[in-house]
Amino acid sequence: MAHAVPFILFSFVFIPATITLVESNQQGFISAVISDKGLDFAKDLLIEKAISSIIPLQLSDIEKSVKIPVIGKVKLGLSNIIINSLDVASSSVETGDSGIVLVASGATADMSMDWKYSYKTWVISISDKGTATVQVEGMVVGLSVAIINEEGTLKIVLLDCGCRVEDISIKVDGGASWLYQGIIDAFQGKIVSAVEDAITKKLKEGINKLDSLLQSLPKEMEVNSVVALNITFVDDPLLSDSSVELEINGLFTGVDGISVSNYYYYHKEPQTFLPNKMSTKMVGISLHEYVFDSAARVYFNANYLQWTVDQIPDQSIMNTAGWKYIIPQLYEQYPDDDMNFSIAVTSPPIIRITGDDIYTTIDGDLLIEVLNSGEVVPVACISLVINASCSVEIHGNNLAGSISLVNFTASLKWSDIGNLHMNLIQAIMSTILKTFFMPYLNTHLRRGFPLPLPRGFTLQNAEIIRHDSWVTVCSDLSYPKRYDLNQLPIMVTA
Ligand SMILES: *[C@@H]1O[C@H](CO)[C@@H](O)[C@H](O)[C@H]1NC(C)=O
Ligand SMILES: *[C@@H]1O[C@H](CO)[C@@H](O)[C@H](O)[C@H]1NC(C)=O
Ligand SMILES: *[C@@H]1O[C@H](CO)[C@@H](O)[C@H](O)[C@H]1NC(C)=O
Ligand SMILES: *[C@@H]1O[C@H](CO)[C@@H](O)[C@H](O)[C@H]1NC(C)=O
Repeated sequence: MAHAVPFILFSFVFIPATITLVESNQQGFISAVISDKGLDFAKDLLIEKAISSIIPLQLSDIEKSVKIPVIGKVKLGLSNIIINSLDVASSSVETGDSGIVLVASGATADMSMDWKYSYKTWVISISDKGTATVQVEGMVVGLSVAIINEEGTLKIVLLDCGCRVEDISIKVDGGASWLYQGIIDAFQGKIVSAVEDAITKKLKEGINKLDSLLQSLPKEMEVNSVVALNITFVDDPLLSDSSVELEINGLFTGVDGISVSNYYYYHKEPQTFLPNKMSTKMVGISLHEYVFDSAARVYFNANYLQWTVDQIPDQSIMNTAGWKYIIPQLYEQYPDDDMNFSIAVTSPPIIRITGDDIYTTIDGDLLIEVLNSGEVVPVACISLVINASCSVEIHGNNLAGSISLVNFTASLKWSDIGNLHMNLIQAIMSTILKTFFMPYLNTHLRRGFPLPLPRGFTLQNAEIIRHDSWVTVCSDLSYPKRYDLNQLPIMVTA
């Protein structure tokens, strides 16, 4: 029936990008590598969302006068031309130096339309109308884009896009057979180019929409009332033949706008690291140890790292009577008085990651206070250097942690109650650290903070890999159907 439109091989090849990539010396402390598998997932999701946003697609009416043997000149018109469904048989995504190429091939579409005709001879004037269905076969749709960083947001530059229809078949309901043939002969080419043009136009619109969504992504993700994560993109995405790497600043700042990024400089390995595990997962999100340092620094600067010790199982040490034999002078000066302890971290905790371990060193002062006749009397201060090891885990989309005490040193800073036996004090410090300080930190660390993922995406089967200075979360992603890509902005949950 319908004759095959010669298949044209597309020029969906890499067009040398005319965009010059500005070398920047900015550093990203969080990077996301999207693997082959992740790119395939993104591609399928995009195609699915693109189709559901395009369909149904109404094309403009087509009119034409044709000469039909015996009958003469007939005015034919097609209206209400609608693509009702679109199916993609296979698709591919490829990345290279200058861009990302996405091709959907073997696509088919079902269309419906109304036809009408009229013709006049010197005797009569005849007109009729009916419906027709069109089956579009062997459609190839492709586009190539470059993604660049423009002042901290990602911009999609469309390099090429197009649609080719290989074959269509038209089935006319009603009408005479001459008409049937007439419509096919007259309109085949026009329907083909109308479909090609409409789909190409929709693709361009879609890319523009995606681009403005990316541009509207916030540059900061508020985690809670104290800290925000700087999610400004740094550098252009790094495209290799099997992955795309994106980098964001990734440091925490205070929600009050106090920046900490200036504190950090590090020499980044020139090579993209892609742990072996990555090949089986969609994304690998790597966080540099400075990300954690920066969070600790914001909390420290905002005076959050100080506590009054109250919840402690061994209440006997909250009264001078409990210290009778440890610090006799304390009991002599303040017999049976209640006591308070306060712990203040004295410098921003440092967090370091090695292949085996995440550990932190926390410097702090523990102040011993006595409540005497309604007055708080500080009586001694002990300096602590606390070594703790940390573990990280994934809860939902949050990177959460926990901390456990490795060891610590305690030394006397000052005392109004004579010299203290540090050996005995050490045991009490240990109790306070184990039964108050660590559990307290853990209730906060267990909440963690959300990894910067676009809204709607959730981590699946995440695994954590530690390597020098970095923690990498390798994971698959899922995207529940109820979400609409139009609401892409980064999730903001604490
Ligand atoms: C966020 O990161 C960008 C890129 O590194 C940097 O230019 C900007 O100063 C940072 N913002 C804050 C508040 O630190
Ligand atoms: C001592 O600790 C208790 C319990 O946390 C608290 O209510 C009280 O205000 C504290 N007193 C001083 C003076 O810090
Ligand atoms: C623990 O702290 C001591 C100082 O008290 C320090 O010398 C040592 O390197 C630390 N060890 C670890 C594993 O953090
Ligand atoms: C604490 O433990 C670490 C590692 O086990 C060790 O290197 C360090 O010397 C210890 N420090 C003290 C003060 O015991």
